[in-house]
Amino acid sequence: MTRSTKSARFAGQFYILLLFFLANVAQAQTRNAPLTKIDAQRAEQNYQKYCALCHGADREGNAADYAPSLKSRSLMSTMPLNFLASSIGFGRPNTAMAPYLADTGGPMSMKDIFTLAIWLKYKAGHETIELSMEPIEGDLNTGATLFVQKCSECHGSKAEGVTAPALANPAFLAFATDAYIKYAIENGREETEMKAFKTQLSQQQINDLTAYIRSLTSGWSPEPKELSPYPEPKDYVTNPTGKNPTFTLKQERYVPMEQVAKAIQENNKLVLLDTRTSSEWHNAHIPGAIPIPYYISEDKVAAGLPKDDTWIIAYCSCPHAASDKVINMLRKKGFKNTAVIDEGFFNWINAGYPIIGGQPE
Ligand code: HEC
Ligand code: HEC
Repeated sequence: MTRSTKSARFAGQFYILLLFFLANVAQAQTRNAPLTKIDAQRAEQNYQKYCALCHGADREGNAADYAPSLKSRSLMSTMPLNFLASSIGFGRPNTAMAPYLADTGGPMSMKDIFTLAIWLKYKAGHETIELSMEPIEGDLNTGATLFVQKCSECHGSKAEGVTAPALANPAFLAFATDAYIKYAIENGREETEMKAFKTQLSQQQINDLTAYIRSLTSGWSPEPKELSPYPEPKDYVTNPTGKNPTFTLKQERYVPMEQVAKAIQENNKLVLLDTRTSSEWHNAHIPGAIPIPYYISEDKVAAGLPKDDTWIIAYCSCPHAASDKVINMLRKKGFKNTAVIDEGFFNWINAGYPIIGGQPE
């Protein structure tokens, strides 16, 4: 089977499941119940387990890493269910938003993802706004200039995302229609830093911006992954016969990445924990790192880890939230030499330190 037919089938399965769910929802809605009580409870548990870390306990956003609000009227009334489900299933490559779908190495089944997406919409409680599928025409050069003046401070000069979502993101643009982008610019996102621009900019200027953002599309589509096997406990310690490294921690917790890179280079003994979503570990990780995602349960977190003076170093892309959570659990269990890589995984890559699995998407 060629790569493209495989990925077409992968995306195809996703849409068949979507149709199945939409049919179910339509049926349930005629009975005034968007989800069964059990499905809603399960969705809420999954939300707390997998999402609250960054999107906040009540979906308000910004709990870590500038994750957007998942309750604003503007977002929840214009983001179609398949866009919402695919954002969860396939994530946003090169941002802290990981893919959660099991086929990508993530922890959730398609059914759980759709149920969560439906629950998020239901919880937000906003009416659906049907937006046009028509392309929006505008002047790219004017759009690019306006973008730098009005938007780059938060979204980055290349729309790569800084304190606001990456708009040049391939997975975002694969699903966001022109009308969806324009609506967000005109109306902003309630109770977030994204203000409404409809009184500040003319219709033509908003169209130019929309056309410019659209022009950053890359033709991305979801691809199935070959998943590598997880390491076994006997392989957890990197350089088991090496010397212990010496680390100087900030706030008794954060170790500068250059000290960790040096320890690896000098074949020091240590354990590296990748605390991101398991799909991210499958994509790329620091050599020797083992996947201990932030949503692991307290009774499983320490399994197979050496409880002696071996250094245990956690990292994530948030850059602290997921690692802190895992390190707190280990410290509570009496593990002493533990720390978090201060700068996080993206800075590690940008600094040119070693990773396995190539550049993340
Ligand atoms: C002060 C910071 C700031 C500025 C300036 C800003 N934005 Fe935003 N923008 C945000 C934040 C934060 C979000 C995410 C809000 C949320 O949902 O929590 C966002 C969201 C968006 C979204 C929706 C993205 C999605 O994933 O649905 C679009 C589109 C957008 N901004 C476009 C623009 C454009 C175009 C400009 C310039 C005219 C602009 N923004 C200026 C902060 C900003
Ligand atoms: C490690 C932090 C983190 C976790 C955990 C996380 N997200 Fe995100 N999420 C983000 C960030 C950051 C973004 C914005 C990415 C970007 O720049 O486009 C995002 C974007 C999104 C978006 C797109 C919203 C928009 O405005 O376009 C959705 C939907 C979403 N996340 C849902 C979820 C759900 C549901 C979960 C749990 C299954 C989850 N996220 C877990 C960090 C996280």
